[in-house]
Amino acid sequence: QWEEVESSLFMSSQSGVPVVWHLNRSAALPLHRVTSEGSLVLLHVEHSAQGDYSCYDSQGLLLHSVRLRLGHPPGLLNISCQVPNHTHVRCSWVESVKTFLPAQYNASFRPCVMDVAHKHCDVYHPAFWQTIHTLSVTETNGLGSKSTSDRFRLHELLKPDPPESVLVQQLEGYSQRLTVSWNFPSSWPLHTAFPLVFHIRYRPLGSMYWSEIYSEESPVVISDALAGHLHQVQVRARDEVNNESQWSDWSPLLLVRPWKGQAEKPSSVNQDEGNLGLVIVLVLFSLVILITVLSLVFVVWVRQKRRDHVTVQELASVVKMKSMPI
Ligand SMILES: *[C@@H]1O[C@H](CO)[C@@H](O)[C@H](O)[C@H]1NC(C)=O
Ligand SMILES: *[C@@H]1O[C@H](CO)[C@@H](O)[C@H](O)[C@H]1NC(C)=O
Ligand SMILES: *[C@@H]1O[C@H](CO)[C@@H](O)[C@H](O)[C@H]1NC(C)=O
Repeated sequence: QWEEVESSLFMSSQSGVPVVWHLNRSAALPLHRVTSEGSLVLLHVEHSAQGDYSCYDSQGLLLHSVRLRLGHPPGLLNISCQVPNHTHVRCSWVESVKTFLPAQYNASFRPCVMDVAHKHCDVYHPAFWQTIHTLSVTETNGLGSKSTSDRFRLHELLKPDPPESVLVQQLEGYSQRLTVSWNFPSSWPLHTAFPLVFHIRYRPLGSMYWSEIYSEESPVVISDALAGHLHQVQVRARDEVNNESQWSDWSPLLLVRPWKGQAEKPSSVNQDEGNLGLVIVLVLFSLVILITVLSLVFVVWVRQKRRDHVTVQELASVVKMKSMPI
């Protein structure tokens, strides 16, 4: 399973037997045997067996020393490329095999500027018009080398960074409006030749459904927010010209509540006072109605009494009028 890299352990001592072997200056060795010529043979090698092996003669004189490193030859790489704007491609890779050994890399996609420590390389001002690019990265270590190739289309990989400085604000006097503003991602050139379209989504906290707005410009006003509720708001961006490109990741979730006027701000205490007020108004109102009804009844009763008295006279005059000649 493990392959030996830097040297053979089958080392014999020229000055004859017996010899003593140490690993990292300690006499504790992994499972081994020493041959009649004084060679050390490791019988069952684990990764932990690596280190500095030294051989001493019976007087304690150092005869030989060797460093053992254990690892694997390179395997295939998983390559992915990020294209945050039209002038920059970054390709990075991860090994599918852990080799435990230092490695070197080179890339065929020239000039891909290598950063071996971070396992990525950068292409500046790539040829976007070339539809398919092939990137081949070769990993080389002490045990061998392996190349991995990947084909990709830059315009399909084009994916802006998320919009920056996203801000959601109340609009004073409007209980259903929110203003959303943002900046272009700083890695996107601020140039009319590279327009972005922005996708804004929002929903009351707890709702499953997003509402959406598309816009080319900041700010945008949301006019159908749910009054009095906290809202989640996010923005993302995409190259406006290139339909095959990708949407950026969403900006971080922001939480904002639309503006609430003084009148619409009943706290629980205020609500109780409000109810008490309502009861008093209702009682007063009932009293007024009661008094009105009583007064009406009294007036009707008084008029009725007077009418009983008057009716006879009226009848007499009606009869008189009828008998008058016209
Ligand atoms: C010996 O030292 C090397 C590095 O110097 C280390 O990787 C290895 O684990 C050590 N081995 C033992 C058995 O201590
Ligand atoms: C990588 O480097 C090795 C040796 O330095 C060379 O043989 C190989 O052709 C190079 N590969 C690429 C893809 O440039
Ligand atoms: C493109 O993106 C890279 C990486 O984020 C950045 O360094 C570079 O300045 C950007 N180019 C432009 C023109 O904004």
